[in-house]
Amino acid sequence: MEERKGFKSTFGFLMAAVGSAVGLGNIWGFPNKMGANGGFAFLLIYLVLAVLCGYIVMVGELAIGRKTGKGAIATYQIMSRKFKWLGWMATASPFLILSFYCVLGGYCIKYMVLNVGNLFNAAFGTNGLSGAEVFGNFMGNPTEGVIFAVIFVLLTILIVMGGVSGGIEKFCSVGMPALAVMLVIIIIRSCTLPGAVEGLKFMFVPNFEPLKENFLGVLATAGGQMFFSLSLGMGVMITYGSYLDKKKSITQNALVIVIFDTLVALMAGLAVLPAAFALDPDGSKGGPKLLYITLQNVFDSMGTIGAVFGIIFYFLVTLAAITSSISLLEVIVTHFVDKAAEKGKTGDKRKVYSVLAGLAASVLMVLVAVDCLGSTGIHPAVLLGIENPKTWAADWLDFFDMLSEGIMMPLGAMLMCIMIGWEIGPEVVRDEVERSGFKMKIYTFFKICVRFITPVLMVLVLYGQIKEFFL
Ligand code: TRP
Repeated sequence: MEERKGFKSTFGFLMAAVGSAVGLGNIWGFPNKMGANGGFAFLLIYLVLAVLCGYIVMVGELAIGRKTGKGAIATYQIMSRKFKWLGWMATASPFLILSFYCVLGGYCIKYMVLNVGNLFNAAFGTNGLSGAEVFGNFMGNPTEGVIFAVIFVLLTILIVMGGVSGGIEKFCSVGMPALAVMLVIIIIRSCTLPGAVEGLKFMFVPNFEPLKENFLGVLATAGGQMFFSLSLGMGVMITYGSYLDKKKSITQNALVIVIFDTLVALMAGLAVLPAAFALDPDGSKGGPKLLYITLQNVFDSMGTIGAVFGIIFYFLVTLAAITSSISLLEVIVTHFVDKAAEKGKTGDKRKVYSVLAGLAASVLMVLVAVDCLGSTGIHPAVLLGIENPKTWAADWLDFFDMLSEGIMMPLGAMLMCIMIGWEIGPEVVRDEVERSGFKMKIYTFFKICVRFITPVLMVLVLYGQIKEFFL
């Protein structure tokens, strides 16, 4: 059997894992959800959940992945009798996420091109139209949406074809640090806009009112966002863990991933929310508006230099999105590559599987792209015969998001905690962590969380989500 090739360095692993975590969830999702859910109150709940759930599930996923050295499906089959099937859910969900992720990633490429157009006063720029008009026109043009989504998915496939160390590790090791630098530049611009202070106050001045009004709602949104942002509950960290060197510390790496991801989310908040407050009193309400309309207005208001900022910014968002989408595709590809190796097939099958899995994911992607955020009117609610649909049923993007981020991820993460806490026992994770020669200092904390605190919080998050969606 050929040797399974993993990451070359800890830095490379970290950049790939951070790259998976940092993506549209941070830059698009976090500011939106924070905006729509009470600012500071949301931030507080988010941070608590990141420590008590995110970190714990991250350690668990990395540990079981590294222990088996296999993809998500095989890992669950080896680890558990009762939860064998969980790996299938963890591999099915990346298809759903990819479907809308690639479409939104495509929008970022479109906006990058748009700003290039502005720089050269070309016809493919904004042509003096407002952010809302530009976005509205774009949403009325499904063909364009499909073209940009296809470009995005092709880039994803190409990088995954390059393999874990050659493709993913290389790409992320350059992309992630570049992203951090570019974000700082945009933050400085955004926070020095007149009126930006209101946005900063909204983010950081303690205000607990939103919690009194709708605690469960804020908890559910923060919980879903946290899982999505950290790439948990979908087999990504199991897969990346399976490529992690046995000598490396799982607990430390998990901590670094959680901290970086949270920092980037906060930085994105700082880049987007103050600008939204400065330019558009309604800007804090969230939705796709913030990333594609509000920020474009910021860039337009800055003249020629704005076009340069715009190009840099949308380029970095595209980059962040690609380092995430490759991790989603890799979950599927790893499974098939391992399967082929087990069956003793020789030769490199990775390229073939990358293309096949990418094409399969593209089917749903085209549906989302053609839908243009619900503009076509042929949405799930129509097919299901629901009148007055809630948002999840009014467009395909929200529908797939509801299924994956809303239900499958918290459910998958909760069941994994129950498996670790009650079936195989938390000592399995401890043994794997300590194999690298590190003492697992947080073992007691991990054990209490994985058995009691995390699953209970997950039930609350899940209940809150279901209530938001259906009741
Ligand atoms: N974490 C990414 C983001 O914030 C999205 C993502 C990548 C993801 N891989 C994932 C979400 C796996 C859930 C599961 O944009």
